[in-house]
Amino acid sequence: MTIDDLKKQIDTIKLEIIDDFQNLDLDSIKIKYLSKNSTFQNLIKFIVDINIEEKKQAGQLINEIKDYLTTEINKKIENIETIERDFDFDYTIPGIKPNLGHYHPTTETIREINGFFKHYGYSVAIGPEIETDEYNFEKLNLPKNHPARDLQDTLYIKSPELLLRTHTSSVETRTMSNSKLPIRVVVPGKAYRNETVNKTNNAIFYQYEGLVVDKGINLGHLKMTLASMLKHLFGENVKYRFRPKYYPQVEPGVGTDIECPFCTGRGCSVCKNRGWIEAAGAGMVHTNALKACGIDSSIYSGFAFGFGLDRLVMARHNITDIRDLYSGNLVYNN
Ligand code: DAH
Repeated sequence: MTIDDLKKQIDTIKLEIIDDFQNLDLDSIKIKYLSKNSTFQNLIKFIVDINIEEKKQAGQLINEIKDYLTTEINKKIENIETIERDFDFDYTIPGIKPNLGHYHPTTETIREINGFFKHYGYSVAIGPEIETDEYNFEKLNLPKNHPARDLQDTLYIKSPELLLRTHTSSVETRTMSNSKLPIRVVVPGKAYRNETVNKTNNAIFYQYEGLVVDKGINLGHLKMTLASMLKHLFGENVKYRFRPKYYPQVEPGVGTDIECPFCTGRGCSVCKNRGWIEAAGAGMVHTNALKACGIDSSIYSGFAFGFGLDRLVMARHNITDIRDLYSGNLVYNN
């Protein structure tokens, strides 16, 4: 055999090795290449025929292909070990928790208050945000030419009948007109007004409405309900006050304030130096509203309230600008 024959033979062996490593398991490879009588182990025999000058080169070629085989075998062993290690994984080891984020503070507050009212047997009601004049104003004791309609700058879809609801009280009239008595509902939802936007007013905002209609409902029930809810949300020591206030939909009307959490009553820009923040409008459902919704006001009475939800969220989270609640910026700097 000449050195060229040997080279050719080694090239063929190399191709065979590559092929075998793809198709055979480790044991079969070992038997084929490492057993004493294998052609591979006996390559050295070919050297006998090679002339003296080329023997050294032939020896080198044989060593190279042997090294190649050893490296390939080691790689395969390593591969098997990693696969086995992976299968050996202990699934009881606590994993790395991905950062999940959290609900928007408004959603979280709505859920918190819903939880409170659920406990007292209230259902959550919803209504359309595009509303009719009838449910938004007319049935709430706000007839067409009533001056109180000036209190709200309405965004009309189709004036004068179709509008963006200016408060969630429209769901009160819908519920009173369409459900069986007694009624006990809360309504978290969005409302819209043609406001000049600033730190404390936004054209889109949330309200949290509540309505109870039953026999024998009185102002005491309303006060107890609002006080308990505020304590639930802000803790036992929350400072609140009720004061007479005019809202067309109720009689008597009750303004409900909480002490300004930003200055603890001393006066600041958020509470406009009042020391108090108006948290809700409330009162005993006006007999005209009951009647307009087909309820006999000589048998039934009710109370209602409407929280400015954004203010509650801001107070809970120390947020001083309402616009931050509606911005897409996830990094919040107070
Ligand atoms: N709808 C009133 C407003 O948006 C707030 C309000 C006052 C709601 C009295 C009520 C209520 O349910 O009884 O200004």
